[in-house]
Formats: sequence, C-alpha cells, structure tokens
Amino acid sequence: MTRIRLTNIQKSYGSHAALKGINLDIDSGSFFTLLGPSGCGKTTLLRAIAGFNLQDAGEIALAGQSIGHLGADKRQVGMVFQDYAVFPHLNVFDNVAFGLVQQKVATPDIRTRVRAILDMVQLGELADRMPHQLSGGQQQRVGLARALVIRPKVLLMDEPLSNLDAKLRIDLRRDIRRLQQQLGITTIYVTHDQEEALSISDKVCVMFDGVVQQVGSPWAIYRQPANRFVAGFVGSNNFLPLRPESGHPALLLGQPIELPASVQGQRGAMAAVRPEKWQVNRVPGQPGLHVQGVLRQAMFTGRELQLFLEVAGHGMLEALTAADDATVAIQTGDRVSLSAAVADIQYFAEGDTGARLS
Ligand SMILES: Nc1ncnc2c1ncn2[C@@H]1O[C@H](COP(=O)(O)OP(=O)(O)OP(=O)(O)O)[C@@H](O)[C@H]1O
Ligand SMILES: [Mg+2]
Repeated sequence: MTRIRLTNIQKSYGSHAALKGINLDIDSGSFFTLLGPSGCGKTTLLRAIAGFNLQDAGEIALAGQSIGHLGADKRQVGMVFQDYAVFPHLNVFDNVAFGLVQQKVATPDIRTRVRAILDMVQLGELADRMPHQLSGGQQQRVGLARALVIRPKVLLMDEPLSNLDAKLRIDLRRDIRRLQQQLGITTIYVTHDQEEALSISDKVCVMFDGVVQQVGSPWAIYRQPANRFVAGFVGSNNFLPLRPESGHPALLLGQPIELPASVQGQRGAMAAVRPEKWQVNRVPGQPGLHVQGVLRQAMFTGRELQLFLEVAGHGMLEALTAADDATVAIQTGDRVSLSAAVADIQYFAEGDTGARLS
C-alpha cells in the first residue's frame, strides 16, 4: 500500500517561488490529479516527487518512508511524459524491456513481463514495430507500458495526453483509468484540462501560483469551489458583482438578494451562477434570481445550446441549455428570460485567492 504524504514542499527558481509550501495526503491506490494553469507549479511538484529535481524544503514520504534523500532511480516511481520519450532506434518490445534490462532481470522474466504489460496496454500485436511506425496514441501506450513494467509503487504522469487529438485523448484516458484501477497503483496525474481532471480522478488538487487552492472529489470541486479562482477555473461561471459594494441587503443584477453571513458587508464579494443553472424562458417556479437578456449569440454543440445574452447594466451572461425545438428557435435579438434558484447562486468573498486574477 503506497500512501504519499507531502509536507511543506517549497521550491524556488532564483527569486521566483514556484512551490510555496505544498501539503498533500494522497490515498494508497487512488488516482490523484494536479490541475492548474500553465506555470502554477504542477511539473515542478511532480519532478520533486520523482526525484528529478530536489525541493528546497519539505518532506516526501511513500508508505510512511521518507524518500527525499533517495535518487530518482531508487524511488520506485514510474513516470510518463508529455512528449512520449520513446527510444526511436528500439522497437516496441525493446523500449518496454529497457528498464528491466538495466535492472538485470533474467531474460525469460523480461519476456514474460513485457508481453504481459504490452497486452494490458493493447500493444500485444505491435511488439516488433519501430516507434516511427506508431501513431501518437500508440507511442504514448509504449510510454505507459515502460513506466508500468518496472512495477513502480507510484505512477506519475505529466500531461500524457496533451499531444493527442481530442478523440484519441478520450479513448486513452479511459484506458489509463481502467489500467490504474486494475493495478490499484497510486497515481499522480498532471493536467491543465479541467474536464480531463474531473473525468479521470478520485481526487483533484487545484493549484494556482505555487499554492494548493482546493483538494476534493471532482464533484466537490465542481459543486463547492473553495474560492473564486477554483469557481472560474473548473467549469464555466458567470461572476456577478453585488451592489452596493458592502451594503446589506445587496442587489444582484438589480434585485434585492439575501446574502449568506460569510459575505455580508464585505467589499468586493461576488456571486456566481454556472451557465447550466439558468432556466431559459421558463416561468420561475421558485424564489431566486430572475433576469431578462437579449440573445447576442447562440452556439449549437449537438447536445446543448450555449447562449450568450446581454443583460442591461451588466454585460454578457452565458447560459447552457438542452437543445430542443423551443430553445433552438430563439433568434439573435430576441428577449430571453433567465432564472436561477437560490441554491444555485454561490458567493465568494474578495479575500479568496482567485480575486487576484480578476
Ligand atoms: N528550470 C527552471 N528555471 C527557472 N524557472 C523555472 C524552471 N522550471 C520552471 N520554472 C518556473 O516555475 C514556475 C512553475 O513551472 P512548472 O513547469 O512547474 O509549471 P506547470 O504548472 O507545469 O506549467 P505547464 O502547465 O505550462 O506545464 C513557472 O513560473 C516556470 O516559469
Ligand atoms: Mg508542466
């Protein structure tokens, strides 16, 4: 069982603090994803765990054992990189066998282990192919097989799917998840794709600017974002200012609204409504927020309709609704009513980290 514990990990490059004291507890056998925008420190943290670059301060423990003093080759971690990193002059079999040859595993054992792992990643038929004869997705399966064949305690993956096209990305992410569950291997996965993070993970850690913003299940991160940054980065959101700034009762889009105690009287507090929470052109059945807008743009995505509406005194709001005969018939320039239930309005105080972004 390989639980991972990170305690106060810090790392600076010159005067730039890339990791500002990271504390994380990662359950044994879980799929844990680091999610955040470019430059937030994801790769730096993963490389510190792998032992490729050392942190300036802090402790890394696998299964209760500190590994901070061990070199990368002694940590028993497997790593998969964004740019496949396969050896171009070795065929698929030899690429995967490479780590075992280095470990001086007996030849018959190498054959058995490589064959088994190639079958697992669905490359059993392609063992003799050279890398240039493989698609991007197949090359990344080689990378995955190579990381897994050494039977690592931990699997680390740094944006392994970002060079693949959209359809392949979705296929391969299902395979990675299936394999991870089958092997029960503790996995830390890095992505800046929020949909990928939500769909593949047991837990998601949202990072920004070298700081952990929130750790939780995908649903908790989406449904109860800890701050304004998370609310805007994971999924889409309509942020709505409260007026007057610190008044109570406050007005939201011109309507009096009962504020939760946490944001009452706070300057710069914001409300937020997710696009899919708006009821479009329906008689409001419950108390909440009701606004009128004018349709400026509609995007039909096949299953849904994405509407951009101009609301007087505010600007644009985004609404996501089921595409049906009634909603598809709405024309640009038509007046549209939007309603959100009280429970679907979220509030964020200005003190939230994300406020720095706005
Ligand atoms: N070797 C380095 N020397 C100097 N600064 C670095 C170095 N590596 C990373 N940084 C800086 O540290 C910060 C974190 O970088 P990191 O690569 O960890 O980000 P990331 O979250 O992986 O981003 P991305 O999504 O673009 O891969 C960035 O500001 C980056 O410019
Ligand atoms: Mg990176």
